[in-house]
Amino acid sequence: MNIAVFVSGRGSNLHAILNSAELEALCRISVVCSDKLDCHAFQIAHQYNIPFFSVSESKKNGFVTFQMLPSIFAEKQIELIVLAGFLKLIPKDFIGTFPFKIINIHPALLPSFGGKGMYGNRVHEAVFKSSAKVSGATVHFVNENYDEGLIIDQAAVSIADANSAEEIAQRVLILEHALLPSVIAKIAQRKIEIKNNRVYLI
Ligand code: GRF
Repeated sequence: MNIAVFVSGRGSNLHAILNSAELEALCRISVVCSDKLDCHAFQIAHQYNIPFFSVSESKKNGFVTFQMLPSIFAEKQIELIVLAGFLKLIPKDFIGTFPFKIINIHPALLPSFGGKGMYGNRVHEAVFKSSAKVSGATVHFVNENYDEGLIIDQAAVSIADANSAEEIAQRVLILEHALLPSVIAKIAQRKIEIKNNRVYLI
């Protein structure tokens, strides 16, 4: 299965997908896209010889537009689009072109601590301030609203003794690096079903 990974920054989830032993035989990252002209994740793509594109809603120097992506993805036979730390909202038309083919990882247990503006350390700060005792990571299908599509899988960790948002972020990131490859593996093996508006992993 050919996949496209969308990134905006560090790219540690991209790295985790690239280094997953389970995914080695199941899929290949054929393209990396970012809303930035340059970011650390692009350097990772470069190291692994993966073509990368900067993507924008409107025409700008050095960027392709979202309208151009379907033909690029068709040529590369992309079957799954993975948002791994991609900060921009995906345009509605683009989502309509790839129904149930776009997934996102969020660093908290949705439906709490998600939505517009809830990204990066802001999520962990909100979790810390709430005094929640558990946090985790969520992989979900992408719809037109931030962090709202059907939940595919989650992993949780106790944060009862955490002393800072940074500590929570570290614990959750470890979960993310295992959860995202495991969901991609299930999708690659067609071990996923949607029944009565719920997602089941088989
Ligand atoms: C991750 O915590 C991801 O869940 C969130 O943004 C962060 C990206 O980290 N959406 P990285 O770029 O994969 O290191």
